[in-house]
Amino acid sequence: MDLIYQDHVTLANGINMPQLGLGVYKMTNPEETLSAISYALEVGYRAIDTAAIYENEEETGNAILYSGIPRDQLFITSKVWNTDQGYDETLRAFEGSLKKLKLDYLDLYLTHWPVAGKYQDTYRAIERLYEEKLIRATGVSNHHIHHLKEILAHAAVPPMVNQIELHPFLTQVPLRSFCEQHGIEVTSWSPLARGRILSNETLIEIGRAHGKTTAQIIIRWHLQNGLIAIPKSVSKERIKENASVADFVLTQEEMQKIDELNKNERTGTNPETYDQL
Ligand SMILES: NC(=O)c1ccc[n+]([C@@H]2O[C@H](COP(=O)([O-])OP(=O)(O)OC[C@H]3O[C@@H](n4cnc5c(N)ncnc54)[C@H](OP(=O)(O)O)[C@@H]3O)[C@@H](O)[C@H]2O)c1
Repeated sequence: MDLIYQDHVTLANGINMPQLGLGVYKMTNPEETLSAISYALEVGYRAIDTAAIYENEEETGNAILYSGIPRDQLFITSKVWNTDQGYDETLRAFEGSLKKLKLDYLDLYLTHWPVAGKYQDTYRAIERLYEEKLIRATGVSNHHIHHLKEILAHAAVPPMVNQIELHPFLTQVPLRSFCEQHGIEVTSWSPLARGRILSNETLIEIGRAHGKTTAQIIIRWHLQNGLIAIPKSVSKERIKENASVADFVLTQEEMQKIDELNKNERTGTNPETYDQL
């Protein structure tokens, strides 16, 4: 039986995005990166989440090329970094990313952080890339409700995805419901809170009941919440483990127990206090 999770979410424009992908932040060793992404594609991952700032778009492109998987079966996301924001700058940065990835279109392109005074123009450029069919979907990252309201007030094409830090210690309920009301799918970054929640007793206990690891329980929680999850790992064993979540279901009670772990605790930067470049 194929245990690798393969479901999709349908974005506002009707295209399908795999609900589970490989995040590649902090994959800095080129050989390790190539090997991790290649292995993920081999075992069935079809979505890769990279960004210009991760400095591994080149290796991501090589892994895609060497995999031999038809382009239309993959879902590739990248992001424009803060120092490249603004209308013309974003268009230029996109061209650079596309070149490094050796692709002629991306599936999704995101504003990495809402840089004050610039994120509106950055999103206008993303809309233009969409109109020109250089990306299949538009989106943003680290946008709070007030940033999204500002974008929605002017956008001809509303963002289809918002990628935010989200895990059982930071469940982001108000932002998630705002996104839901506006047809914006949510991607959870640091879905495992960078490993900091793996020793939580409640999660361990639920894992024991299903014969699953804590990481698998957390990933299943994201997926059953309709979220897109992009756990990162360079270990072959963990890459496979994180996607082997198609053969069990958490009960309503278990889902609620996990919801109750929320502490509004971030592992990464808060978009409100982000150092605006
Ligand atoms: N938009 C943004 O601003 C933003 C910010 C941060 C992250 N992201 C995206 O989200 C992705 C994921 O976030 P993240 O990398 O910060 O954190 P994460 O996926 O929550 O956690 C990754 C950490 O957990 C470990 N790990 C992975 N699977 C494991 C398992 N099954 N058991 C035990 N440990 C495991 C990894 O180590 P090993 O590699 O050694 O397995 C790594 O140290 C990133 O790669 C990136 O694509 C986006």
